[in-house]
Amino acid sequence: MLGRALLPLRAFLGFTFCFAGLQKLANPGFLQASNPGSIQAQLAGAARRSPVHLLISPLTHVAVPLGILIALAELAIGLGTVLGLWQRLAAAGGVALSLLLFLTVSFHASPYYTGADIVFAFAWTPLLLAGAGPLSGDAMIAARARARRGSRRPSAQEASRREVMLKGTMTAVTAVTGVALAGMVAGLGRLAGGTKATSGTTLPSPAQPASGPAKTPGPSASGGGSHPAGTAIGPAKDVPVGSAASFTDPRTGDPSIVIQASAGKFVAFDAVCPHAGCTVQYDQSAAQLVCPCHGSQFNASTGAVESGPAATGLNPISIAMGSNDQLYAE
Ligand code: FES
Repeated sequence: MLGRALLPLRAFLGFTFCFAGLQKLANPGFLQASNPGSIQAQLAGAARRSPVHLLISPLTHVAVPLGILIALAELAIGLGTVLGLWQRLAAAGGVALSLLLFLTVSFHASPYYTGADIVFAFAWTPLLLAGAGPLSGDAMIAARARARRGSRRPSAQEASRREVMLKGTMTAVTAVTGVALAGMVAGLGRLAGGTKATSGTTLPSPAQPASGPAKTPGPSASGGGSHPAGTAIGPAKDVPVGSAASFTDPRTGDPSIVIQASAGKFVAFDAVCPHAGCTVQYDQSAAQLVCPCHGSQFNASTGAVESGPAATGLNPISIAMGSNDQLYAE
């Protein structure tokens, strides 16, 4: 009875992990460092905010292989669960991967239950403790081994050898199918073009300002014009009306975004999503800031959250334009 009761959970987890792995492989932006939803951007965010950030920093150098490994692991765990093959091992992988994603990606989700990874970590535990139950590869192999023992009475060693061989064959077929599926989906995703970043241009970092003073202590009339307080982040002409550009907040080092909402009116926000730390991007057609990870939407004028799971808005950054046409962040 317990095994049957776990079937809906098994189907959901198996399908979801297959989908998550295939979605990553199909999206070229997942491996492109310039994309705000890429594995590189997520690792950079985790290296700043994760409670295990010291362990994450070295991983930023191997972001692409790590991203592929995570996608393939999700696919393998999902296929194993859908087929009920090596179920306890697949569930252990599910717990481990969910905890890893919890510690790196969704640790700061607030309230904590809006981050899916911690829920997934606990959702895997029934399958880890009880196994796949009926209608599974594990159950079928065990039933065949029992039937053989009953009919021809081979030695226990012989029965167990046949069980291992059958399981090995099913595992090999599943692995080959999974790799072929992963390759096909990755190829189709690249043909389709995947998702596009909409954050506009990137302003020069504060370390290499385009021109003008890198930092001013406050309003000044020297040098032929007054400059607002703060640090120059780049020329205002690089942010046309209605569009956005990204820059690094000189105070915090966070990825940030500046928008020219209407002629001469600039607003800027810390682009770190308050839900789980992904980098939001500007959707010009909807005039919204959108998080590529879980779809939170923010008002592009105020940074207020318009739809979750983020529970709070983006942190505003004070921005002003100097007479030298430079933008200054305070
Ligand atoms: Fe989850 Fe942004 S990180 S919505």
